[in-house]
Amino acid sequence: MSIEERHRKALAGVVPLETPLEIVRGEGSYLFDAEGKRYLDLMTGIAVNVLGYGHPAILSALETQAKKYLHLYNGLGYQSIVAEFGEMIQSVSEPDYPVYFGNSGTEAVEAALKLARYATGRPGIIAFRGAFHGRTFGSLSLTASNSRYRSAYEPLVPSVYHVDYPAPTRLGVSPEAALRHTQEQLMTLFANEIDPHRVAVIVVEPIQGEGGYVIPPTGFLPWLQDLCRQFGILLAVDEVQSGVGRTGRWFAYQHEGLKPDLIIMGKALGGGLPISALAARRDLMEAWTPGTHGTTFGGNPVACATGLATLNVIRDDNLVARAGDLGQMAVERLGALRGLPGVVDVRGRGLMVGVEFRADIGESVVLEIMNEALKRGMIVHPAGLKHEVIRLMPPLNIDQEVFSQALDVLVEISRGVLAKSAQ
Ligand SMILES: Cc1ncc(COP(=O)(O)O)c(C=O)c1O
Repeated sequence: MSIEERHRKALAGVVPLETPLEIVRGEGSYLFDAEGKRYLDLMTGIAVNVLGYGHPAILSALETQAKKYLHLYNGLGYQSIVAEFGEMIQSVSEPDYPVYFGNSGTEAVEAALKLARYATGRPGIIAFRGAFHGRTFGSLSLTASNSRYRSAYEPLVPSVYHVDYPAPTRLGVSPEAALRHTQEQLMTLFANEIDPHRVAVIVVEPIQGEGGYVIPPTGFLPWLQDLCRQFGILLAVDEVQSGVGRTGRWFAYQHEGLKPDLIIMGKALGGGLPISALAARRDLMEAWTPGTHGTTFGGNPVACATGLATLNVIRDDNLVARAGDLGQMAVERLGALRGLPGVVDVRGRGLMVGVEFRADIGESVVLEIMNEALKRGMIVHPAGLKHEVIRLMPPLNIDQEVFSQALDVLVEISRGVLAKSAQ
């Protein structure tokens, strides 16, 4: 039986396959298929494999911990590796925020929502259109990047409200106008739909990921933080995609000097093993009565060990600053596409880089670029509300020359696809 048939028979079709590849191994920044063909991985399992594949420090940490024991429920007793990982997370985020561990991004979002309601006693939750926060009922109630994710699952969690994210190209206005628009929407929401004193939390991606690698106008996040403080609303940043050094800071909220009340982390945090975290203000965490939330696998010691090794390598090899530099190079190189008919924007912060195409042709252009890239041995991934954006999220330790050549090839491919679509 072919691998395709085996998949069809054994696995749920609800997870669609983006490529027909059968991947058999990874090495550094490359994946290899069953025929031995090599692919440069600019997608990293959707921003997970932050040090690529087979990093010796991760493998060694994994082996050392696995030989001791694979798993213990974090509520059983003290575990040094779990404490050490918590301390490491504190050292790169907020040193005084205790950490709660989960397994996936969506679980960390759920934890944030539950803690926010528990600690404030308020029901209201505000999120942004274009956001992706996960697919379990709580996080799905916030996700608003595609109605397909939500429809047929309603009713979702009540008292969740959405306003537009200040996304200039989506709204078709300047960054200043986009900022004003979102500010006005929030004020209208408070005036007409929910008293701000009934809002527990505003959840925001500091850069929208699935929504199209949208960087909000400067000043938006600090303004949002001030607004939250004014009404006693908690501010939660969802750093599941933007965190762990990717944007040129350990966490994207640090670009504008924020101190959010809750910080949601996942994806790259375990260096390839599933682990997520919620770091929150100490007084909030201390208000969370023991036993009112929990998990079997959260804080798995092997994932803590690989996560710790990953964060250590990122720190010791200076990869956060490097992500900032490489990202700048990427935006400059891809900037060659600016001004071409069909290209709306080239943008990025660190190694979160996106090229947006005109909405009416975007989806087919992006699909063709992905297919062409695959033929040329590169894996890229779409984003945007209509899949009109190509997003790049390479490993932070990708070889500079290799990345630079890949960017040139992407420019060439995009030019070709755009020329064809204009015919
Ligand atoms: C910003 C953000 N939050 C939450 C999630 C959900 O994470 P997970 O798929 O691990 O549940 C994602 C996943 O793409 C994400 O990008």
